[in-house]
Amino acid sequence: MITQQYFDTYEGKEINVYQLSDKIDVLICPIGATVLSIRVPDRFGKKTDVLLSMTECAEIAKNDAYMGSVVGRCANRISNGKFNLNGVSYQLTQNKGQNHLHGGNVGFNQKVFKPTIDGDSLLLELDSPDGEEGYPGNLKIVVRYSVKGSSFAIDYYAASDKDTLFNPTSHLYFNLNGESDGSILDNVVQITADSYLQVDENLIPTEKAAVANTPFDFSKPKPIGQDIDCQDVQLNIAGGYDHNFCLEDDHAACAYSTKSGVCLDVFTDCCGLQFYTGNFLNGQQGKSVYDRRSGFCMETQFFPNAINNSEWKQPVLKAGEKFHSCTQYVFSTL
Ligand code: GAL
Repeated sequence: MITQQYFDTYEGKEINVYQLSDKIDVLICPIGATVLSIRVPDRFGKKTDVLLSMTECAEIAKNDAYMGSVVGRCANRISNGKFNLNGVSYQLTQNKGQNHLHGGNVGFNQKVFKPTIDGDSLLLELDSPDGEEGYPGNLKIVVRYSVKGSSFAIDYYAASDKDTLFNPTSHLYFNLNGESDGSILDNVVQITADSYLQVDENLIPTEKAAVANTPFDFSKPKPIGQDIDCQDVQLNIAGGYDHNFCLEDDHAACAYSTKSGVCLDVFTDCCGLQFYTGNFLNGQQGKSVYDRRSGFCMETQFFPNAINNSEWKQPVLKAGEKFHSCTQYVFSTL
């Protein structure tokens, strides 16, 4: 079931939010196609919000944590904001030092998507014009949010009139203890990956490395905090986990809280999962207070900066082709 209600005024327009409900309730705001809450039953059947979020449209659009938003055109970093496509070199906006991050200065997270209710799904549409943030091609994007039982599915569709790059993700910050609990270090995580991508000092991936015998080994469930402060070059660079895991299976990851009993399983057709432990959260986020490591993200995507590494699957969307990718977040209790 989908219900809508007035939320806030943004740039002179009234903005409604949409609640998708079945066994879980998911609240969506069209700005940035942002997910504002995911309320799921805990082990006693009481609904708990497990998603960190902002409270006003202006904050949703401007927060540099990208909290709950769809990120694009390309998630993550592109080295020096440069790439070559069909022999042409392109320069994207450099909005994170010399690199391009999460779509540039005005990424999808700041855009007002057009909402349409389609049965039990909410469609959010956006047109991104040729040249926006340096990307070629007029790109049409549709994000489909669906709730069925205890599953929340995100489908991304897109098409462009020129060859372009496309690597969307959803920047959801979870705390399975409950969003205001303050720390995710006791959340237990398992990731279906034998390898991850090491990064340089600007968090640009350099090469694949085995997770075995490193703090990056989440092949068996372990609390996020177990190894996060180990003396490890990669953890030191990022201030915690902020690395892409190379997925072996469409059952990408799972997580659970021993406090609330809430479990999360992540399914995706993407090859990469950016596991980010909120290392840059720094207290005040709009009107909400979210300290460092009070939320974790499992952002499904192509490998970051893959366009500059030809051995990796390329996030290229050819003119006239249809892009589709799906990630599902499925909740249960222990
Ligand atoms: C993550 C990224 C982090 C940081 C964060 C936003 O997706 O991996 O390095 O940029 O977004 O604060």
